[in-house]
Amino acid sequence: MISADVLAARRARVAAALPLGRALLLVGAGQPIPLPEGSDQTYPFRSHSEYLYLAGGECAGGVVAFDPLEGPVDGWQTFVPPVTEAERVWEGRRQAPGRPIEELARWLESRRGRPVAVLGSRLPDLDGDPQLSDRVREALTHARRPKDAHEIACVRRAVAATVAGFAALPGRLQPGVSERRIQIELEAEFLRHGGDRTGYGTIVGTGPNAAVLHFEPSDRTVAAGDFVLVDAGAEVERYVADVTRTFVAGKPSPFQRDLYQVVLAAQERAIARCRPGAEWKEIHLAAAIDLVEGLVSLGIMRGEPASLVEQEAHTLFFPHGLGHMVGLGVRDGSGRAPGRTQDPRASLRTLRMDLPLAPGYLVTVEPGLYFIPALLNDPGRRLRFSSCVDWTRVEACLPLGGVRIEDNLLVTDGAPEVLTREIPKALD
Ligand code: GLY
Ligand code: MN
Repeated sequence: MISADVLAARRARVAAALPLGRALLLVGAGQPIPLPEGSDQTYPFRSHSEYLYLAGGECAGGVVAFDPLEGPVDGWQTFVPPVTEAERVWEGRRQAPGRPIEELARWLESRRGRPVAVLGSRLPDLDGDPQLSDRVREALTHARRPKDAHEIACVRRAVAATVAGFAALPGRLQPGVSERRIQIELEAEFLRHGGDRTGYGTIVGTGPNAAVLHFEPSDRTVAAGDFVLVDAGAEVERYVADVTRTFVAGKPSPFQRDLYQVVLAAQERAIARCRPGAEWKEIHLAAAIDLVEGLVSLGIMRGEPASLVEQEAHTLFFPHGLGHMVGLGVRDGSGRAPGRTQDPRASLRTLRMDLPLAPGYLVTVEPGLYFIPALLNDPGRRLRFSSCVDWTRVEACLPLGGVRIEDNLLVTDGAPEVLTREIPKALD
C-alpha cells in the first residue's frame, strides 16, 4: 500500500503540472460492470488508473477532487461511497478511506461557476469542459510518466513473480505439451510468487501461432522444432510486467537460430539506445534497420536496409512498434509528448508512443520478426515489394511462426536498468 507521505508528494507534483488555473478537477474511479447475461456478478473491478494513481487505492464509485485555489497539498479530497451491508455480506468489501460521496455535491456547490475538468471514468450528470479535460489529461499522463519509488517497487515485485513464472517453462516445453498447459504452469508460478493476477491476457503461440501477435493459448500441442512464443507478465497492486521470450521445443534449426540471433541483437542494440533524450521513434527506426539488415543477410530480403525501411518494407516482417510504456497497466503513459501530433510517416502509425525518453520512464523493448500469412499472402504487398523480398524463401518460412523478445527497462541518467534481465534469453 502507498504511504500517506508518498501520496501527498505525488499529488503536489501533479498539481504543479496541471493547466487548471482556477478550474476544478474531478477524477472518477468508475463502477463495476455487470456481466451481460443478467447474473448478479460483474466483470472484475479495476478503478480507472487515473483515479488509482491520485487516490492511492481502489474504490468503486470513488471520486478524487482537487481545488487548486486551496493549494497543492490541501486542495485534494477523496469522496467514497459507503459500503453497503450487501457488499459486506457478498464480497467482504471494506470501507475505503475518504469523505462520504454525498458531500461531493456540497463541495461542488460551494465552488459553483468554476470550470471543471473530468478525468478517470465518466461521472453521472457531470460532463465538465471537454477541451479543458483533454488538456488536463495530456498533462496528467505526462506527469505520470516518470515513475515514483512506490511504483517502481510494485513493478519490481511484478517482475519477481514474472521471473518465477518464466523459470518454470524451459523443462516443460516438450513435444506434446499444449499451449494451455504452458499458460497454466506460468500463471500458477506468478500467483505463487506474489502476483495478484496476470497483467494482461497471457499469450502463448506455438508453431505458426507464434506469428499471431496476441495469440490466446489453445489446445494445440507443441511439435518438435516448433517456436514457442510466450508473452506474459504478473500484476502486483495494479502494476505489471510485460515480458516475451521465444523458445524452440527441442533443437533449433540453423535458420531458427539465425532468425533468433537477428532479433536478439536488434533488441540488445535498442536497449542500449534507451538513454535520456533519445527519441522513441528514432530508436524504433534504428531497430527496424537492424532487423532488415539481418533479413538481408539471411537472404529473405534484398536491398539496402535503410532504404528498405524508408520504403516500409520492414513492416512485412516487423508490423508493430518497438514497445510501449508500462507500469500502472500494460500501456501506462504511452502516447505522444504534449503538443505533438501524429507523425505522418505511414510506417510509424503502429507506434504506441512518440516522445523523448527521460529518467524514471519504464518502457518495453520488444522487436520481433514473424512470417504472418495475413500480410505475406496479400497480393498487393507481394506486388509492391516484389523486388525487395525472396518470395520463394518466404513461402517456405510461412509455417514457422515468429520470434519476439521483450524486456522491461527503467530509463536512468545513464545506461538503462533492465528490470527483467534475470529471465534468460539464450535459445538453448
Ligand atoms: N504484451 C502484449 C503487448 O505488449 O502488446
Ligand atoms: Mn509489450
